Amino acid sequence: LQNLRIPGPTPCPPETLNELSRQMINHRGPEFAALQGRIMDRLKQFFRTQNEVYVLTASGTGAMETSVVNVLSPGDHVLAVSIGEFGDRFADIAEAFGAHVHKLGLEPGTAADPQAVADALRREPAIKAVLVTHNETSTGVTNDVAAIGKAIRAINPEVLFVVDAISSLGCIPFAQDAWGVDVATTCSQKGFMIPPGLAFISLSPRAWAAYETAKMPRYYFDLGSYRNYAKRGQPPFTPSVALYYGLDTALEIMDKEGFEQVNARHHDIAEYTRSRVKALGLKLLAIGNEASDTVTSIVVPEGVDAAQLLALLNSEYDTVLAAGQGKLMGKIVRIGHMGLVERKDIDGAVDGLASALVRLGYKNPAAVGGA
Ligand SMILES: Cc1ncc(COP(=O)(O)O)c(C=O)c1O
Repeated sequence: LQNLRIPGPTPCPPETLNELSRQMINHRGPEFAALQGRIMDRLKQFFRTQNEVYVLTASGTGAMETSVVNVLSPGDHVLAVSIGEFGDRFADIAEAFGAHVHKLGLEPGTAADPQAVADALRREPAIKAVLVTHNETSTGVTNDVAAIGKAIRAINPEVLFVVDAISSLGCIPFAQDAWGVDVATTCSQKGFMIPPGLAFISLSPRAWAAYETAKMPRYYFDLGSYRNYAKRGQPPFTPSVALYYGLDTALEIMDKEGFEQVNARHHDIAEYTRSRVKALGLKLLAIGNEASDTVTSIVVPEGVDAAQLLALLNSEYDTVLAAGQGKLMGKIVRIGHMGLVERKDIDGAVDGLASALVRLGYKNPAAVGGA
């Protein structure tokens, strides 16, 4: 069995996988309305919000686009805080729909300094929205969304705070209302232990007020339709019914475990992963509190070819790790540890990594592993 250790899609437990093969139901009927009602109620708890949370049949990027086009108009000034590939994507989406994007870009491997974000906002009073990635999957760095929220509100209490929580929500603590997040999004294939295809989004009252005047083009992703149809327990368009079945079960499992416990378990497995990787004498890209509890980026040692390493792990150790993206291609490899993951999965991946590295010429300075 393959040890799939990429930061999404993540492995699914049999409980959710089995749900996916159930017979279809009428998505305009009462059973579906009950299903959607349960899902929306539970998602509210996971977002820690009083707002409604809508389900889109889309990947995470669809939810990012939805975040932008429902609250902004072409020409609006936007501050895009980017600490990696997904931060860049948020900026690109805003630009594609005609926003005037001011980018605050940071070196890969570091988190955004809340004060620097506030300073950027102070320099440009026309900024209407701040786009932030909670957990930058491409680098394995988590931004302090609570602190960024506080810092930007001190400068402009009305600015829209738009957060991509795609690789954090459901794993790393997230609190939409307490942190003053106006638009929050996540999706199905990371912490929720079901396949890709569903995305979740929640708008604050301030974001809904912005919706009223937002002029960016939208149709499939017009949240007004989702809000209207939700009154009947339906989405506006034919949903991925099978994924709703899986999600219903996943949320029940997560609810039973309890949010705090889910968060604590992710922190624990992340700490375990970091300590095992460091014991091989390897360097982590992210350090301290900024290191993500859902994905760990490992710097590929000098003289080792990252692509060869990943291929060897895949072909001979049944272990699939993720490559670096963009500027980090060839420089790092990433281990995902979100959703369904236990210490033995990390042990399998790290033991494989140790052995494969030695075969590719790595000499472990800590003289551990590699046997
Ligand atoms: C932080 C973050 N944002 C956005 C996305 C894009 O999601 P998708 O690939 O589902 O469109 C991802 C996916 O890895 C992500 O990790």
